Amino acid sequence: MSNPWRTQVGIVGAGPAGLMLGHLLHRQGVDSVILENRTREYVIDRVRAGVLEQGTVDLMIATGVGERLRREGMRHEGIHIAFNGRRHRIDFAGLTGGRAITIYGQNEVVKDLIEARVAAGRPLFFEVGDVEPYGMDTDAPGILCTIDGEPRDLACDFIAGCDGFHGICRPSIPATRLQQYEREYPFGWLGILAKAPPACDELIYSNHERGFALFSMRTPSITRLYLQCAPDEDVGAWPDDRIWAELRARFETSDGWQPNEGEILQKSVTGMRSFVGEPMRYGRMFLAGDAAHIVPPTGAKGLNLAMADVSRLASALAAYYSSGAAELLDTYSERGLRRTWRAQRFSWWMTTMLHRLEQDTAFDRRRQLAELEYLVSSRAAMTSLAENYVGIPFDEDLGLGTGKTRRV
Ligand code: APR
Ligand code: PHB
Repeated sequence: MSNPWRTQVGIVGAGPAGLMLGHLLHRQGVDSVILENRTREYVIDRVRAGVLEQGTVDLMIATGVGERLRREGMRHEGIHIAFNGRRHRIDFAGLTGGRAITIYGQNEVVKDLIEARVAAGRPLFFEVGDVEPYGMDTDAPGILCTIDGEPRDLACDFIAGCDGFHGICRPSIPATRLQQYEREYPFGWLGILAKAPPACDELIYSNHERGFALFSMRTPSITRLYLQCAPDEDVGAWPDDRIWAELRARFETSDGWQPNEGEILQKSVTGMRSFVGEPMRYGRMFLAGDAAHIVPPTGAKGLNLAMADVSRLASALAAYYSSGAAELLDTYSERGLRRTWRAQRFSWWMTTMLHRLEQDTAFDRRRQLAELEYLVSSRAAMTSLAENYVGIPFDEDLGLGTGKTRRV
């Protein structure tokens, strides 16, 4: 394995975090190599989240990968919360001084970023085997891997662990150097993509006796829907008719609204957990995105947290390479954890307010309904939801350590 292969930043994982980090570094003149263990098709076709905060949209547009997003993204200025047979709108724009979210599939983000990487001619490898970071606690870290059957050794200045929750980077940190906080929820989401025009132009979160349901969309002709189910629910037990009947029941409101039905293009079940690993750094390795933290999807924060991480990490690395200043690298984790825990609280709150738990008592149920009643009747409560849902601007969390911007 004689080895002249080297780069400044070795990036593990070509999900949104790894691809965006590579893109931002390239724009700042920092060299990187991205190593992904799956195929390009798998990474592009994987159906995931779809809600972009303004900070994510701004980052994509400002860095030249927002052209299609600008054309095809669907701006939403509010969401609906349904319970007890009624729907209530939360007016994001009115409550947050004009801020909104944009619906654009995570796989579209990934597609745009892969295209930009290829157009820039920067290294991006798929189907990379045996990925193994080493030397993170030394001045000479690197990544061992196998490409096209050949063992390779990539020497780097820094490693970015952007390899998701089940990746290799976080588990390569000694247990004594990583504090892990975790909660698993006793339910999952059965998600479908349907060939049907969205029947409402905004998302609907429904708390129903039979369990939570979510109405979302991807394009003017594709509806995305979710049903609360068991964490290990067998998709095979859900023929299309059963799914539509359950959705009709859980979305039933006095105004008669129902989702449009159509061919089901994709079905899958995902479990739900909250997870944080602290710190987000081990020596010369930095964790970003799902590798560092997982939020339940109810607050639509996962993709946006990943984007905020890599935006911060890219700025810190660029500052280091341009002036030798390590301050932003040194505060990367602390600044990220503050944003992460704020998103954890919000996602946990949305999740517990909207889902049904088997062990809930009549008291729990009444308390949950009282919380929903309060939410939709108080401007203060709606503002709290709205400002967290639209997200904290990305550059606001750059304050720690520089004293320049306000803390969040
Ligand atoms: N070697 C190389 N690549 C790996 C390895 C490994 N050992 N393990 C995992 N990967 C790859 C995965 O195949 C995946 O493509 O790392 C990538 C991680 O991507 P994501 O899981 O999408 O994570 P991230 O980029 O942090 O994006 C976070 O994903 O789960 C959603 O809601 C979450 O939207 C958020 C986003
Ligand atoms: C989605 O469209 O996939 C989606 C929307 C809102 C969420 C989670 C997922 O909270």
